[in-house]
This record gives sequence, structure tokens and C-alpha cells, in this order.
Amino acid sequence: MRTALVFAMFLHGSLQVLTEVKYVGDQFILLPCNFHTFEFDDLTVVWSRSDLSPSTVHKLVTKGTELTDQNQLYKGRTSMETDALETGELTLNLTNLQWADSGIYTCAIRSSKGEERRVTDIELLVKEQFPSWATALLLFLVLVLLVVVGCLAYRFRHYFMSDYQVEIDSGVETVVLPCKTPVVLPQDATVKWKDRYRKVHVFKNGSDQPQEQDRFFRTRTKVNEDLLKTGDLSLTLKYPTDGDTSTYTCTVYSSDGDVLVNKRVKLSVKACQLDVDEGAESVLLPFRTTPELPGNSDVEWSILNKMVHVYTKGSDQPEEQDQFYRNRTKMNEDLLTSGDLSLTLRQPTEGDSGDYKCILNSRSIWRVKTVRLTVKGRSQVQDQTEDTSNRSSSTDPTPLMADQPV
Ligand SMILES: *[C@@H]1O[C@H](CO)[C@@H](O)[C@H](O)[C@H]1NC(C)=O
Repeated sequence: MRTALVFAMFLHGSLQVLTEVKYVGDQFILLPCNFHTFEFDDLTVVWSRSDLSPSTVHKLVTKGTELTDQNQLYKGRTSMETDALETGELTLNLTNLQWADSGIYTCAIRSSKGEERRVTDIELLVKEQFPSWATALLLFLVLVLLVVVGCLAYRFRHYFMSDYQVEIDSGVETVVLPCKTPVVLPQDATVKWKDRYRKVHVFKNGSDQPQEQDRFFRTRTKVNEDLLKTGDLSLTLKYPTDGDTSTYTCTVYSSDGDVLVNKRVKLSVKACQLDVDEGAESVLLPFRTTPELPGNSDVEWSILNKMVHVYTKGSDQPEEQDQFYRNRTKMNEDLLTSGDLSLTLRQPTEGDSGDYKCILNSRSIWRVKTVRLTVKGRSQVQDQTEDTSNRSSSTDPTPLMADQPV
């Protein structure tokens, strides 16, 4: 009566499939199965896999283990507790796990009358475990690959990056704006370097075209001779100043006007900064540019709207300079031939602090530079001198030593 009820429940109920994951070479796995067998006489417990033939994995009868129809795959690898039928613990111990052990295991009981009940279905997944040294090797190879790719990307970054940044300090003699292309360029291509609104350098019909470039860049630029062959279109800019801070584009046109290459380079040149103490004999505001400047060039040093120094028609023009700077400024006599436009300012005071701008202007050439001058006031300087004189004085001991208990 009871048996019939239990079997009826089985027929209508649905079995839950448990999934166990193990690895090849694991010592053993316990496939759990519980059933109140003690309420029945003469039961048979069968562990089986329906996908195998013969399907029996392990069989337990009242008399003991019965392995006559056991599948060869499980020979000597299965066991159950000897008192399983009394306790109802029908757990299967499967040892020395193999990849082929993957499958759905059914734990079923059979009554002497031939009725059968499935108690548990358990899906076992036996995986090939990746050895740890192989994992380490794989990780290492991936790392090496990443480093190699990273290095190559860095080495050939000019080819891939459309935007490139260059930052330099004021006073650097030359700067290279990189532009490289892997594209094979036709020998009649035109290369144009531009900043936001001016032509910086033009290479056309196999040679540089200085008459096409802006006065600001004339005699300051250079590109490689065989640039179309090598694909290295980088521009060398001489005597860069803060006035060159801009975004530059490097463009290559075919003879039909098609754009073959278009890259951008951001150049930032830090403004020149000078710190000097009030009371100094003089301060030199540096500005060096290309030598052999045209004889008709005008040079002006100014601050805000005050004229600091004016040089036109080959000589200084003191009558044009602001009263405040009268007799305090000096420029080299050969400034146009040497290209050294530096200004000497005598006896700088706090009031001289500010941004000095130098402009050289001729019909064919234009140059500009800013120098930020900071003159530390006398009061600050005096404090410092008093401090140092106190400390260095040998006649009276320093306050620190006097206060020290002996
Ligand atoms: C399962 O069987 C193996 C081999 O006989 C044995 O070493 C292990 O202790 C058994 N596990 C349990 C929980 O009985």
C-alpha cells in the first residue's frame, strides 16, 4: 500500500537534476541519494547511466554488491556503504575520475515485484583541468604579446595617431613636429604644413616653396629632402617661441588634389620666464632667432602699450621709447646679422615686472617672442639680506645658540 503510493508519487513528480563539476584525476566524488529503504524488504539499488550499454554503474542487493552486469568503464571504481539498505544512504562513491564519466547518473530502487522508482538524477561534468604551469605559460605569453604590441604601437605611433602633442621649453633651438605615413606617396605629390591660419611650409614639384610660406615661418622651417620616398614628412622648426604655440596640420595632396595624408600636431612652447631681485645691475631678456635678418627690419620691445626699445633703419631710436626706459635699455649692435635680439634692461625695479614682447618686422620676415619678467621688490630682498647678515655675523651669536640651555 505504502509502496504503491510512493511509486505513484514518482510517476507524477518531476526529478531535479543536480549538477556536479569535477576534474579528471580527482580522487573521488560522492553522488548523493537518500531513500527510506528500511520500510521495504528485498530492495535493489541501481545506479545507472541510460546513455551507456550496459547501463549499470553499480548495483546493490540485499545480499551485497552485484556487479555482473556492470559497465566495464566503472570496473573497480564504484562503492557504496555496506549498510546502505539499512540506513537509506544510497550515496555512490566513484573514484579515479575520468573524462568519460560525464553523464547523467540515475539512482533507482527496484522492488521484488519488479516495480522501479527513480530517486535521483545527477548530472556529472568531468572536465579536463588545465595544468597550472600551462595557465602560467599562457598568461606569460599573453603578457609578452601585449608588451610587444604596446612597444610596436609606441614605435609606430606617428602612423596611427592623428593627433600628436609636442611640449617644449622656451629657448630650445629646434623642435621637430612629427608626421610619418606608411602610405606610398606619388612623386608629384604636394606636402603642406599649416598652422591654424598660416602656411608654414610647402613642398611642391620636388622642392620647397619658400615664397608660399608665411613671413613668420620663413627661413625657420625644414623638411627631409626625400620625404615622399620615406614617408617621413616631419617638419623641423628653428628657434621656436611662445608665438609658435598652435595646432599644425600636415597634409599631402595628389596631383589631382586628393588628400592622401592629413595629420595634426599640437605644439606648445612655454613662455620664457625670468626672476630677478630688485637691485640687480641688469637683466637680459633673451631672444635668439635666425641670423642674417633683412637690413630693413624693425625691432620693437614693448610692454603693454609702453615702448621699451625701438630699433629701425639700422639704429636705436631712443626718442621713440617710453620715458621710464630712457637710458636703461641696450641691444647688440649686430643684432640683425647675429639674430640675437636679446634686450639688456639696467637696474630693474619691481615696476618693471610684466610681459615683454619683442617683434621683428620686415617685408619678408616676421618674428615674435614674449618674456615674462618678475622683479622681486626691494622690501622682500632687504628682509633676505638682513636675515643672511644676522646669521653670518661672527660678533654676536645667533639667537638660536643663545637660547640653547647648556
Ligand atoms: C571513496 O572511495 C575511496 C577509494 O576507496 C576512499 O579513499 C574514500 O575515502 C571514499 N570516500 C568516502 C567518503 O567514503
